[in-house]
Amino acid sequence: MGIFSKLFGSKQDKDVQQHNGYHNLTVSSVQKLTEDSVKISFDIPNEIKSNYEFISGQYLTVIKSIDGEELRRSYSICSGPNEQLAIAVKKVPYGKFSNWAITNLNQGDILQVSDPQGNFKLDSNARFIVSFVAGSGITPILSMVKKLENEIADFRLFYGNKTSNSVMFKSDLEKLKNTKLTYAYSQEKVEGELHGRLTKEKITEIIKSDLNLLKADAYYMCGPEELILNAKSVLEMFGVSKDKIHFELFTTPVLMKQENTEAKEIYPGRTAVTVILDQEKIEFDYNAKDKTILEALNEKGFDPPYSCRGGVCCACRAKVLEGDMLMLMNYSLTDEEVKDGYVLTCQSHPTTDKIVLSYDA
Ligand code: FES
Repeated sequence: MGIFSKLFGSKQDKDVQQHNGYHNLTVSSVQKLTEDSVKISFDIPNEIKSNYEFISGQYLTVIKSIDGEELRRSYSICSGPNEQLAIAVKKVPYGKFSNWAITNLNQGDILQVSDPQGNFKLDSNARFIVSFVAGSGITPILSMVKKLENEIADFRLFYGNKTSNSVMFKSDLEKLKNTKLTYAYSQEKVEGELHGRLTKEKITEIIKSDLNLLKADAYYMCGPEELILNAKSVLEMFGVSKDKIHFELFTTPVLMKQENTEAKEIYPGRTAVTVILDQEKIEFDYNAKDKTILEALNEKGFDPPYSCRGGVCCACRAKVLEGDMLMLMNYSLTDEEVKDGYVLTCQSHPTTDKIVLSYDA
């Protein structure tokens, strides 16, 4: 158990084991944003302040035990660089953690929280940014907008919601000076705003009415998968290069789901595995076909980092130092990371009889 869990009082989640790489943070406020969403802010003790320096666009993973089940959920950071660290949680139908957080979480409670993670990062050199988001997809974008507010940047934000009452962070957004914000409401007509969902047709219309949007340095999309696909395909159709297009999925995709079909074979026998985790060497062998490396480590009682288990969040990233692995799905590592030997361990099986990988690299 880490030192911070010993320092804090009785509100700590006693049903959850203390996990490596997580800190016990006190909730400093829970602020209602809309009927079904809250902003959760955290106090960060001075001793670990440096752990929580983040790049706008990143997320935190939170661990909580509810009804005897340990849950891990990742939420984007919505705070700006000089604000108290905060995430936003929107209710998901039947979502155990989101429903609990909205109704039961209080100031003074303690949650286990990871360091900031994720590759959906603001390109700090970009001076003109265009963003298409919907619903809670605003969260990482708000952090980016706040970062750029004090720098000379032009931010064009198109934000889709059902109605004006379901807009998260409305008052924060309307205070922004360097951001030109356009709402699109699918179930309400509001004068001066767009009506309808951000479909391919709507995004095409938006761009055709202002071709300057094609001159942006970077494009950021966040929200439902369909919105991301719509914006991405329209931008590509207009000739925007892929390296300028960035997106963040909140769930494992259905429409763009793609299994790796390259000829590489999962090793048919037992693989000798060496894993470096928190500067410790772990050695074991297992049947590579049966389980991913993450599953094998969990089964043996080790505590490697992970969150979504679906190839989306990249919390389980590790570097292959020897041998080779087949990664079944990847929606979060960059091409550069893959080239450098990183894999998502929740998606990876060994393809060689020996493998060495490091979570610390
Ligand atoms: S745990 Fe999220 S990508 Fe592996």
